Amino acid sequence: MQRSWWREAVVYQIYPRSFADSNGDGIGDLRGIVARLDYLQRLGVDVLWLCPIYRSPNDDNGYDISDYRTIMPEFGSMEDFTQLLGETHRRGMRLIMDLVVNHTSDEHPWFVESRASRRNPRRDYYIWADPRDGGPPNNWRSWFRGPAWELDPTTGQYYLHLFSKKQPDLNWANPELRRAVYAMMRWWLDLGIDGFRMDVINFIAKVPGVPDSAAAPAVLGERYAHVPGIEHYADTAHVHGYLQEMHREVLAHYDVMTVGECHFLNPERAARYVDPARHELCLLFQFDQIFAAGDRSALRRALEDWYAEFRRHGAWTTTTLGNHDFPRLVSVFGAEGEAREASAQLFATLLLTAPGTPFLYQGDELGMTNVRWERASDYDDIQALGEYRESIARGVPEAQALAQLQQHSRDNARTPMQWSAEAHAGFTTGQPWLRVNDNFRELNAAAQEREPGSVLQYYRRLIALRKQEPCLVYGDFVPLSPDPGPYVYARVLERTRIVVVLNWTQEPTSLPVADWFEPRTAELLLSNQGAPPVEADGAGVLRLAPWQACVYRTRV
Ligand code: NOJ
Ligand code: CA
Repeated sequence: MQRSWWREAVVYQIYPRSFADSNGDGIGDLRGIVARLDYLQRLGVDVLWLCPIYRSPNDDNGYDISDYRTIMPEFGSMEDFTQLLGETHRRGMRLIMDLVVNHTSDEHPWFVESRASRRNPRRDYYIWADPRDGGPPNNWRSWFRGPAWELDPTTGQYYLHLFSKKQPDLNWANPELRRAVYAMMRWWLDLGIDGFRMDVINFIAKVPGVPDSAAAPAVLGERYAHVPGIEHYADTAHVHGYLQEMHREVLAHYDVMTVGECHFLNPERAARYVDPARHELCLLFQFDQIFAAGDRSALRRALEDWYAEFRRHGAWTTTTLGNHDFPRLVSVFGAEGEAREASAQLFATLLLTAPGTPFLYQGDELGMTNVRWERASDYDDIQALGEYRESIARGVPEAQALAQLQQHSRDNARTPMQWSAEAHAGFTTGQPWLRVNDNFRELNAAAQEREPGSVLQYYRRLIALRKQEPCLVYGDFVPLSPDPGPYVYARVLERTRIVVVLNWTQEPTSLPVADWFEPRTAELLLSNQGAPPVEADGAGVLRLAPWQACVYRTRV
């Protein structure tokens, strides 16, 4: 496998609104991030990914951009950005930006012009269609609920919005629009950023004529049943042509990393985006991992099947167990309460020893948890609130709708970073834009700095280990244990073999490992609960505590 910095990198995702507030207005900002760069450097991460920081009316917290070349005033100025970039580079880290070009805000000047008249030169920058029987042009549904179309009274046509009605979809079939996007990308790259995370990038090429969705819910699967139409805009025939053009026009001229947010894929289709011979993207997120949630077998398949398929193409995988769109890693995969720390550490071990580039989400390095607020009005997330309102309208009892909201809300991952036990978790001196999780007094970075066994310190050790052991980056991935049961796998590079043992349950277990390695002669590199005893009968049986994770090195 060819070596490159983005294959070796550990990426840390920042949700700027909730990371650190420098001026007491309750909203995280760029200077707040600068003030925490030393923390990130000590953690050992290499690349920072910033969720959108562009000017935006914040209908979807920055994923609705009204000016691609201006910083959102709440987050700071262009000077603040240049300082952040410089200070990041000075510490030997890199910075990638969110690229949101499937849609803009309806307040973007392109859309303001586009909607002004049918003959406006920018009309065709967006996707317009005539009403059908006095209603929307087709039956597609928006990700945030309701129809994916909005009638614009000025011109009597509907525009497409796969997300909120303040997020009109761009028309990638228009070459002039594509050129404008590429120019904007070059502008940021020329400022010195190190790449892009690309928002819903495999949705950009809609099937011409926007046909009705006829797919049965079973075809869409449970995950996409609420968004009929997806089969006509996700992973369509044209998307690869656009990405190859983007590569030719922009990416090929810089040493950058790209990671695509892509949906509606199986491993075979996904590999096409990141097959190096095709010159499209470096990486994409493999959402089967996050969606596996508590299902260990599904998680194994998501790691093993994708790895096997990608390897056939010389393509590089990623590991992601949380981000700003999903509930908290530890609440979903591990356990809250007493086992919180051990389970957070176990999944950290997986995240940083599985093959591919790992993506950490802010706060997961502390084992931050979900919230459970009692009033719908405490929640902010446009997506979860859309689902909640739709449920109430359908007659779902309030208690049940609220339970759904608590479980699904993206706010779970968006509560402010818990820096200390001080007021508002040290995130702000003012009123935070979103409630802080009540557990901040016990669960915060300052406390974990003092405690050697903390989740934070364990993450640091793991990241350092990954840096020391090229085998954890470039080693082959060899699953060893049968499914179900504790997960044991090896990474193998030349004469080094690293064996990872994960007891991912709340039960202690005795695990015969002799077929896979000899624990008495192997070197224990890391464990979240000390060295596990080896039973004395000579059969190499490890006694593992609940949620115990161990990393051994052997020679081959
Ligand atoms: C995916 C982003 O991660 C999510 O936060 C956003 O709401 C949608 N794309 C729309 O941009
Ligand atoms: Ca602020």
